[in-house]
Amino acid sequence: MILNFRKASLNDWEIISSLEKSVANKFYFPIIKEKEVKDYVNKSEVYVIEKDRKPIGTVSYEEKSKDHAYIDGLTINPKYQGRGYGSEAIHWLTKKLSEYKRVDLVTHPHNSKSIIIYLKNGFLIDGWRDNYFGDGEPRIVLSQVKNNL
Ligand SMILES: CC(C)(COP(=O)(O)OP(=O)(O)OC[C@H]1O[C@@H](n2cnc3c(N)ncnc32)[C@H](O)[C@@H]1OP(=O)(O)O)[C@@H](O)C(=O)NCCC(=O)NCCS
Repeated sequence: MILNFRKASLNDWEIISSLEKSVANKFYFPIIKEKEVKDYVNKSEVYVIEKDRKPIGTVSYEEKSKDHAYIDGLTINPKYQGRGYGSEAIHWLTKKLSEYKRVDLVTHPHNSKSIIIYLKNGFLIDGWRDNYFGDGEPRIVLSQVKNNL
């Protein structure tokens, strides 16, 4: 495997902040301030994605209940995008979360790259939420639901 996934600690806040900053765009609002990043690391299981020991991205989830995990972060530094690393990160994370009955997330309906990654990894489009983050923009829900077919 080319990528290494290292569980982040609070000490990684500056690495996470700069990775978040590097991917900011109109569909993705980054977590940048020290307090916000630390709150995120405390609330979620955050992993720093490393290639050749260099941090190139992040992937994270929050356990909502013992049956339900919510993927709440995926970033790949633009210098490393388009090489399949985002997809590899979601493949790795979904394997890790295979015991949860429901794994879901939200993304912007125009965030084609992320939608492709999730569809390729077995997620289905599961809903539409207007103004989900209060930014006036909609989000779509994607989910993997297991053991209930
Ligand atoms: C979304 C993101 C993580 C994708 O990372 P990535 O490493 O570039 O993704 P991949 O290389 O695995 O590409 C995934 C798919 O997107 C498609 N893709 C890649 N580059 C593309 C481009 N420039 N335009 C359109 N589609 C593209 C490809 O079809 C690829 O699928 P393939 O493996 O079948 O070719 C990255 O763009 C990012 O950090 N974006 C900002 C943060 C964000 O939006 N996160 C997701 C929130 S839910």
